[in-house]
Amino acid sequence: YGQALRYLGTTTSTQDEVRRWADDPEQPAPHGAVVVAERQTAGRGRRGRSWETTGGTLVFSVLLRGGRGGQPLTLPELALLPLAAGVAVQRAAGVGGLKWPNDLLTPDGRKLAGILLEADLRGEEARRAVLGIGINVGAAPDGAAHLHEFWPTLTRAHLLGDLLRELQRWLTASPDEILGGWRAASLTLGRSVRLQTPGGPLDGVATDLDAHGSLLVTTPQGLRTVSAGDVQLIGD
Ligand code: BTN
Repeated sequence: YGQALRYLGTTTSTQDEVRRWADDPEQPAPHGAVVVAERQTAGRGRRGRSWETTGGTLVFSVLLRGGRGGQPLTLPELALLPLAAGVAVQRAAGVGGLKWPNDLLTPDGRKLAGILLEADLRGEEARRAVLGIGINVGAAPDGAAHLHEFWPTLTRAHLLGDLLRELQRWLTASPDEILGGWRAASLTLGRSVRLQTPGGPLDGVATDLDAHGSLLVTTPQGLRTVSAGDVQLIGD
C-alpha cells in the first residue's frame, strides 16, 4: 500500500479524494493508493459523526479494489476489514487497545484513533472500498488523547510508514488471524459494556467475537450478538 500516494494540504475529506482519484479516467488510482492530507474541512466519522482534524492529526485514506486475490469483497470480508484495520492501527501505534469494533483507546479510555470503512456495495459484494484512518499524533480534541503522550518524538511520516506495512499484513490476513489479532489487541473483552437497544440501554459483559467479528455480550437477558453500532465501556 502507498506505492501510489498523494499528499494534500487542505481537502474536504480524504475519503472523497480517494474516490475522485479512483474515478479519474486518465490515471485511475490503483489498489492500495493512499491520500494523506494536512487538514480536512469535512472529515467524516462512523455513524454520521464528524471527525475533527487539528494540526498534528494523521489523516489518510486507502483505496481497496477488491479483497484477497483481487476478487470483489464479500459481506463476510467487509465485516472483518474494520477489525483488521483496527489491529493494524493498534500494532503501529504500539499503545492502547481496541474498543469494538475499532476505536483505538488509551488504557484509561481516551480516544487515540478512529477508522471508517466505506464500501461501494452492489448487492452482496463490493468492487471498491475506501478505508479512512485518523490518528491523533501531536494534538487531540478535548477529552481525547494523542500519541505524543506516549511517544514524544514520533513523527507522522514514520507512523504512516509503519501503518501501511501493518495494513498490508492485516488486511490480507485470514479470518482466524484477524480474529486472533483483534482479541490480542482488545480493550473490550472481559469488560462491562452498555448496549443501546430499541428498548433502552442494556448492560452486560463482552465475552468474545463470533466468526463474523460481531461482539458477543452476556446480559441478564441472555447472550446478545452486536454486529453494528457502538458499545460503551463502563466501570473497570
Ligand atoms: C470514527 O472514529 O468515527 C472514524 C473516524 C475516521 C476519520 C478518518 S480521517 C481520514 C478519513 N477521512 C475522513 O473523512 N474520515 C476518515
